[in-house]
Amino acid sequence: MRVVILISGRGSNMEALLKADLPVEFAAVIGNRPDAKGLGIARDLGAPTVVVDHTRFDGRDSFDAALAAEIDRHEPDLIVLAGFMRVLTDGFVRRYQGRMINIHPSLLPAFPGLHTHRSALEAGVKVHGCTVHFVTPEVDAGPIIIQAVVPVLSGDDEVRLAARVLAQEHRIYPQAVRWIAEGRVAVQPGGTVLVTDVPDASGKSLISPAPDNR
Ligand code: GRF
Repeated sequence: MRVVILISGRGSNMEALLKADLPVEFAAVIGNRPDAKGLGIARDLGAPTVVVDHTRFDGRDSFDAALAAEIDRHEPDLIVLAGFMRVLTDGFVRRYQGRMINIHPSLLPAFPGLHTHRSALEAGVKVHGCTVHFVTPEVDAGPIIIQAVVPVLSGDDEVRLAARVLAQEHRIYPQAVRWIAEGRVAVQPGGTVLVTDVPDASGKSLISPAPDNR
């Protein structure tokens, strides 16, 4: 399976994917900013990198057209958005629907959009987490493949909470890509995802704050 990763910045999810020893070929890492830190990390790890600089285009349509042309050159089976901070046009999303995935730092459908950790703290939720999902035209709303849950701890601020979530992002994103590469991920007619041959998580739970032990 040929995979193209799209990044905008730090690239820690990309790094986790590149290091995960997945049964895929990383055809390219594409950044929309020449200064994206992740591009250097990708190069150091031997992945081909390309820049499609969004500031050189006069609108979303022309940028998305150039981005699609660059993606298609690599003939990917899967496009992985890893901190790619551009809203994509409907046409672009439809072109790749079913073979483009994203990671979002909340337990969707809670807290779509930006500043998810701040929103979680403000809402007072006691668990938070991250979600890998297929990308559909509605932002942060596509079929969910895998989620990880973390506790929100007293004394948390955005930085601490983000770090706890990010550690789980680095686990679930490679897992999702591996399942897809193994042909085990299917979107069902109702729009939910079935992953075949996974042990269910029954009997495991996270209660937050932890209940008294009596
Ligand atoms: C992650 O929190 C991811 O969930 C969100 O953007 C951030 C990207 O971080 N979509 P990195 O570039 O992978 O380090």
